[in-house]
Amino acid sequence: MAARVLSLLVAMLLAAPLSAAPPTAPVVDLDVDRSIPIPPPATHHMGREIAQTMHYTGAPWLVRESRQREEDCRMLIQALDIRPGQVVCDMGCGNGFYTLELARRVGPRGLVYAVDVQPEMLHMLAERLAREGVRNVRPVLGTPIDPRLPLAAVDLVLCVDVYHEFSHPEAMLARIHESLAPDGLLVLAEFRGEDPAVPIKPLHKMTKAQVRAELEPAGYRLERQFDRLPWQHLLFFKATNGAERAGEGDKTPGP
Ligand SMILES: C[S@@+](CC[C@H](N)C(=O)[O-])C[C@H]1O[C@@H](n2cnc3c(N)ncnc32)[C@H](O)[C@@H]1O
Repeated sequence: MAARVLSLLVAMLLAAPLSAAPPTAPVVDLDVDRSIPIPPPATHHMGREIAQTMHYTGAPWLVRESRQREEDCRMLIQALDIRPGQVVCDMGCGNGFYTLELARRVGPRGLVYAVDVQPEMLHMLAERLAREGVRNVRPVLGTPIDPRLPLAAVDLVLCVDVYHEFSHPEAMLARIHESLAPDGLLVLAEFRGEDPAVPIKPLHKMTKAQVRAELEPAGYRLERQFDRLPWQHLLFFKATNGAERAGEGDKTPGP
């Protein structure tokens, strides 16, 4: 009898699949406090019409084969100068085109908060993270007024093709401001509104002057800019303290 049980056990062990369990998707933090009221979305902000949020069904466009050639995404990410161990945020991450590369650059000691207001985008991202075994990304569902980031903790918040979609730009800028670590940066990549050769709908482009006009009163100062991308502005902002905000000296580079 004992021999039969033993042989049965051996047979079961041999029949067990040798492959590892399928990778599990990282948990998407969907824990939004629904009791906090969200004011109706603005249609305009400081003379600019706010663009509609890009719907998640359009996500394949974000990972299109021509994107590198058109936008030189490798140059963009290189210009960010991400260092191992940093905490960064891919704000409006979509399906994670930039998230995975940010994760690679901050390395296992670093962390990427990947924030979006569409859970469907975050689920697509989570699947990619699982497929590629990436563990240093935290996908977070934000609300239109709160990206739900930790306070004074983020070294760099990256918004690629996102800021012009914020339906509540003032609230978002205030929350991002609070989330930045000392010397932290908010980096905006926006299609150049001044350049008619950039083949993007005008509502989805911004001029540098408009970006500055919106960010400076919200407590940011233009620290530097990278002007070599084919289609986009890449603007690096630092959070100013109260004194600077009150107009104590202008240290910003020219237009
Ligand atoms: C044009 S897509 C860009 C996606 C990604 N940054 C990329 O370059 O591949 C804009 C994304 O911003 C997200 N978004 C819009 N408003 C947002 C907000 N207030 N907070 C977080 N994400 C937002 C949209 O849901 C959408 O996924």
